[in-house]
Amino acid sequence: MTSSTLTITITGAAGQIAYALLPRLGDLLFDVETRIVLKLLDVEGAMPALEAVAMEIEDCAVSWIEKVVCTSDLKTAFDGCQLALLIGASPRVKGMERSDLLLKNGDIFRAHGEAINKYAAKDIKVFVVGNPCNTNAYICMNHARDVPSHRFFSMSMLDQNRAYAFMAKRYQLDISMLENLCVWGNHSPTMYVDYQRATYAGKPLLDVVDAHDWLANEYQEMVANRGSAVIQARGASSAASAANAVLDSVMMLLDSHQAYGAFSMGVCSHGEYGARPGTIVSYPCHYNAKGQLSIVEHIDLDPVTQKYIALSFDEIANEADLCRDLNLIG
Ligand code: NAD
Ligand code: LMR
Repeated sequence: MTSSTLTITITGAAGQIAYALLPRLGDLLFDVETRIVLKLLDVEGAMPALEAVAMEIEDCAVSWIEKVVCTSDLKTAFDGCQLALLIGASPRVKGMERSDLLLKNGDIFRAHGEAINKYAAKDIKVFVVGNPCNTNAYICMNHARDVPSHRFFSMSMLDQNRAYAFMAKRYQLDISMLENLCVWGNHSPTMYVDYQRATYAGKPLLDVVDAHDWLANEYQEMVANRGSAVIQARGASSAASAANAVLDSVMMLLDSHQAYGAFSMGVCSHGEYGARPGTIVSYPCHYNAKGQLSIVEHIDLDPVTQKYIALSFDEIANEADLCRDLNLIG
């Protein structure tokens, strides 16, 4: 992405997350020369609401926007797209798991995958937020056959951010000194927060804090169930924190800055640590010496951690099987 414009397609652009995200997109630009061409996609019935969003973007009076296009047409939305933020999908409501959304949302990611294959720029990066995000990314990738699998990602940064916040609060830590706290597996209650490799002010976190039992149990449940807790409290799924996590994630995707520590990202597995190859799984990722986003290698997982991570990987593999049963992929 070296041109002075960056074409970003945002689906579900009339929705809650997009509303919190759009005014902050300028945070993603690393130089004052770059301008964003914004392609906002939503369903036909949402066009009046989307036009209102476009009016509000205009009223932000920012210099980093080149052009805003509102559309319900897939070709218009994805033509020349360099970064696709796939948010558009129904959110779950109280009492549902995210995987219950597969039947409802899966078709959207088939259609968007096909459109990306036909119309997007060759160097596109596809970042999936709409739930169940790991499996929706998998569906999308399977319908965008000409786009290399390493260009597809799903969001686990919100889980990571929650993990940082709960940790800092429990132990009264300065959150800016916490590092390498990553989430493995699915964006679902089976996710696993790997506190064992976290560091605080450069030292192993486990040397700094006590109550390791809390970390292994209650902490995991708090992070895993935070999405439901927000739905319960708000009557709608997280939006501001989700938008914030989109920005944190996309920052990682656009800036191959090697100084970052490990961060959580759903990427296409080649079987690393026992996941099913071809599925989209959250791993601790980093920028390697070649400046490529890659899965952190040689992590020595103890058998208990391995067992939890395997459960989450299995859940993702089962969702992939369900996609076949539902004819969402061929
Ligand atoms: P929302 O209901 O406010 O907005 C969704 C938007 O998507 C709506 O405007 C809807 O019209 C649009 N949409 C539906 N079908 C579409 C299609 N085929 N093409 C384009 N747009 C379409 O929901 P929201 O709160 O913005 O959440 C969006 C999704 O993000 C949900 O699936 C939610 O569960 C998920 N989510 C994921 C995470 C995460 O961490 N991965 C966090 C929060 C929310
Ligand atoms: C979240 O984690 O807040 C989102 O995935 C929304 C949800 O359904 O929990």
